[in-house]
Amino acid sequence: MKHSETILILDFGSQYTQLIARKIRELNVYSEIARYDLSIEEIRKIAPLGVILSGGPTSVYDENAPKIDREIFELGAPVLGICYGLQLISARFGGEVRPAENREYGKAKLEIVEKENPLLKNVTNNSVVWMSHGDYVTKLPEGFSVIARTENSPVAAIANDDAKIYGTQFHPEVAHSEEGIKILENFVVGICGANRTWTARNFIREKIDEIREIVREGKVLLALSGGVDSSVAAVLLNKAIGENLICVHVDNGLMRKDESARIVKMFNENFNLNIIHVDARRNFLEALRGVENPEEKRKIIGKTFIEVFEAEAKKFDGIKFLAQGTLYPDVIESVPVKGASVTIKTHHNVGGLPDKMNLRLLEPFRELFKDEVRAIGRELGLPKEFIGRHPFPGPGLAVRILGEITDERLEILREADEIYIEELRTAGIYDDIWQAFAVLLPIKTVGVMGDARTYENVIALRAVTSVDGMTADWFRFPYEVLESVSNKIIRKVKGVNRVVYDVSSKPPATIEWE
Ligand code: XMP
Repeated sequence: MKHSETILILDFGSQYTQLIARKIRELNVYSEIARYDLSIEEIRKIAPLGVILSGGPTSVYDENAPKIDREIFELGAPVLGICYGLQLISARFGGEVRPAENREYGKAKLEIVEKENPLLKNVTNNSVVWMSHGDYVTKLPEGFSVIARTENSPVAAIANDDAKIYGTQFHPEVAHSEEGIKILENFVVGICGANRTWTARNFIREKIDEIREIVREGKVLLALSGGVDSSVAAVLLNKAIGENLICVHVDNGLMRKDESARIVKMFNENFNLNIIHVDARRNFLEALRGVENPEEKRKIIGKTFIEVFEAEAKKFDGIKFLAQGTLYPDVIESVPVKGASVTIKTHHNVGGLPDKMNLRLLEPFRELFKDEVRAIGRELGLPKEFIGRHPFPGPGLAVRILGEITDERLEILREADEIYIEELRTAGIYDDIWQAFAVLLPIKTVGVMGDARTYENVIALRAVTSVDGMTADWFRFPYEVLESVSNKIIRKVKGVNRVVYDVSSKPPATIEWE
């Protein structure tokens, strides 16, 4: 989709780059991320309303420091440099950047020097901003003035109003910068003149037209897992092409208690979708029998899924497209933040299938962040509780039963998980948690019930707060809730005599246990 108003963010490898894009979109302005070395011809094609240069882990004087194309400043679009971006601007216009003796990291108070500057309009004096840098500007570039400073950074923000080039040493995009969003708004709306038309409603309208144009009379196949992304995609496509959308929901036997039935029921009651409900529980459980290794489990589940799905798809004629709920974070080609990123867990999807079946991919959410998909789901009338459900991994309970998967273990975990989640809802804290679930450990411990000694399973509870699942912290529970969850699980779930709570953050732990 070509957007009439785009703020282009050039990524120099900051861990916050995606956050800049998200914050701008929250202002209802479309923004996209590209690598810092995107060619000037490509940038011209995008015709950005404004350009933001992100932070980055390097020093502008490092030999391998990512450089900026000088012509970016001649596009006629305003430019805002953040941290490394500010230093690039300084270096480009004849300023001087030096390593600081002490790296400045953390909160600082922003003293406004030029109150009337358009970048700082309505920003209160001495609000907290977030600093994280090793270099700082020691000599101002030509044509620029200092518009704000902090105790340790005499050059905390600069401006050249005539050229519409700005820079901040701090990070306005992070939540710790109290008035950061106002500064971004000043840039995007005030300085770049964006009209704030990036809304769920507009997206839906334009996307429906686009889908109709691409698909025409062809049929589209969609794997409806019941997760937010595939569910919202199903409803959107259904609105666009009606009967020509065929949704296949595969029950792999690894879902939560009654989940599969609940999903199908929700769609049948609220939407007129074409859903094929495939009961493949036995296929998966047979294939997983005796398997203990988590990566092997994932591979088997991915492979079995493709077999089942393909067999189902063959029953229909005229299918030309496969729809997937791919999100923007999966397609951004950003600069890796220092250090090679390694695959820690293989996430399976329907990869390989489109080629094999000779289908074209349809990815209506390729340019969206998760929150935006949720907003679109709400706008399309999906129930609020459904949209707000915690993420659930494709391999489901298979990676939450450590060791071998058996019917008995699945049953125990389902019951425990159900009690846990119910308690979170009752306590009114479900929405404060990013993801919560129970894990069944492959060990037995001793307990006592009545006068008898027991030797039974352990359930571990996990609950984390997170923004995107990349990093996470364990949720600080009120003790009463933990107490009540633990009591109920031990009392009601046969085969469990001990409950523990996981207090590990990610990193170094991961969210799932396998
Ligand atoms: P980890 O455990 O890697 O999880 O910290 C981060 C997020 O990804 C989910 N997850 C998966 N999702 N297939 C998926 O579709 C998988 O194999 C998988 N493994 C982890 C996890 O639930 C969390 O939201």
